[in-house]
Amino acid sequence: MVARRIATLIEERNQAGLNTVLGLATGSTPIRLYRELIRLHREEGLSFAKVITFNLDEYYPISTTARQSYMRFMKEQLFNHIDIRPENTHIPNGELPRDKVFEACQEYEDRIIEAGGIDLQILGIGRTGHIGFNEPGSTRDSRTRMITLDALTRKDAAKDFGGEPMVPRRAVTMGVGTILDARQIVLMAWGEAKAEILARAVEGEVSDYIPATFLQGHPNLTFYTDLPAAGMLTRYRTPWLVESCDWTPRRIRQAVVMLSQSTGRPLLKLLEKDYNERGLGDLVTVHGPAYDININVFNQLQHTITGWPGGKPNADDTHRPERASPFPKKAVVFSPETDDAAFFMGGTLHRLIEQGHEVHVVFQTSGYLSINRDETIRFAEFLKEVNNGVENLQVGGVEELDDLIHNEDEESFEKNSLAIRLRSAVAQGEAKAVCRFLGIPAERIHFLNMPFYDTGSSRKSSLTSRDITLVKDLLADLRPNQVYLSGDLSDPNATHRLAYEALAAAVKELGEDYDQDCYFWLYQGETQEWGVDQIDMAVPLSPDELSLKMLAILKYQSQRNRQGLGERAGWELARNRNQATAKLYDDLGLAEYEAIEVFKRWIPEVS
Ligand code: F6R
Repeated sequence: MVARRIATLIEERNQAGLNTVLGLATGSTPIRLYRELIRLHREEGLSFAKVITFNLDEYYPISTTARQSYMRFMKEQLFNHIDIRPENTHIPNGELPRDKVFEACQEYEDRIIEAGGIDLQILGIGRTGHIGFNEPGSTRDSRTRMITLDALTRKDAAKDFGGEPMVPRRAVTMGVGTILDARQIVLMAWGEAKAEILARAVEGEVSDYIPATFLQGHPNLTFYTDLPAAGMLTRYRTPWLVESCDWTPRRIRQAVVMLSQSTGRPLLKLLEKDYNERGLGDLVTVHGPAYDININVFNQLQHTITGWPGGKPNADDTHRPERASPFPKKAVVFSPETDDAAFFMGGTLHRLIEQGHEVHVVFQTSGYLSINRDETIRFAEFLKEVNNGVENLQVGGVEELDDLIHNEDEESFEKNSLAIRLRSAVAQGEAKAVCRFLGIPAERIHFLNMPFYDTGSSRKSSLTSRDITLVKDLLADLRPNQVYLSGDLSDPNATHRLAYEALAAAVKELGEDYDQDCYFWLYQGETQEWGVDQIDMAVPLSPDELSLKMLAILKYQSQRNRQGLGERAGWELARNRNQATAKLYDDLGLAEYEAIEVFKRWIPEVS
């Protein structure tokens, strides 16, 4: 839709003999837009010969050729594939000496004016509420300048840089005022991770605390989002406040849980008055009295809780999330990268094994991107030391290792094939250590090394048929009764989303050729947990099981190495999340557990 809109604008202006000036963004958000523009250029003859572009921002300092530079991003994602004139593209320069930056920023503003001003500005939104890199504190009339990146922004960029400490502290960005001068503005946001900030940007009070709120005053602004990103907007989060709505069981659960949270009263103590005072009078009228609704929601949530994630043998399973039979089950746990399964469902994994199921773990990608240079060199040194005196090593000669150890150039490290082998070996070695710790035998550990992952960057483009075939063959071979997969779909270009899409495509292609009674369970990734209204299975962990999960996570030594000072360690985040879910159940008036891992059932589409 956005690509079409841009194409129409360019064509109209071309016909009138005018240039088109586009303001462009980088990051994950516009990748699919750029892909579509390239397609329009190749297949429908859209020409960019009379297009002038200005990018929002660039890290500072950064080499223009660095893998993470926005200059390189724009070339790879768009400019190299269309007929735009290089001299018509503008990106703030991250390589200038400090004392030249101020002047360069003034020039950037002048160039935009000389070009006639921006006709259409593309924006993404950061979780701090930044547009461009205008972090909290940026004023409405700010112009192009150097700024300091917010801690959250640097955390979000850590993946691209191999750890937070490596993310530049500054950036050069167009100002809020520069952006607002554009004649049309398009802001795109995809995935749950953007939901909260998007709602604040659209509905919150205008303030420099959330610079995106300044957009609210713009005369020609359109937000394009998917449903997960729109999820916290009033009309989606609490639709009953905006219009009369269809009371599905999930929606009732969502409304009543929110009511309990906002009143601080457990489910079974909610009064009709509480419903009426918080815009839920309609629900009581349609499904009341209040106490019946309370009990109904309480029971729904009660039935999500099970200590038997693989089903309880010989027990009545009418209200249990999983079936009692077959028992034992063949459970296959998919982990997009080498750490997801342990971090996000380590306790459940342990339970399945303890309860006698045949558990297989499938590591979908090699996971090498999460191993940074420092960690790799540690292993290169180790290899060299162990092989001291041996001339011809199996992997890399001494010279090759020395080159890896001493060459400080980022880019050559990223491309170095010995480094990639070492990094994969470190990531997979940790995965094996965790499986060993949990008691999973070697023949039930599968490394798929899916090729979509090997782009050299944390941004992926698309799946290949080989990716899908790998998953398909494995499913056809194992024929599991139960599958766990990551439902972390927040970033359309990230590993997790593509790992999920590969599975969805594989199941679809398999058609009848997989166990039709197989249950699929989605666990969530790093950025968020399932909302209470979405949970279908909640697996409680005892204090000892939680400690055991933490010990499993500690096997990922490389992740500790990536952590920045003052940042919470991965195991701590995982623990806090599971304890927060337990508290949530407790506050609603359900049983009080130490920690809970949660899953949502996924019903695949079959062709
Ligand atoms: C990028 C930019 C940023 C991003 C924002 C979202 O040029 O200016 O404002 O749009 O940080 O990033 P992604 O799209 O990676 O989630």
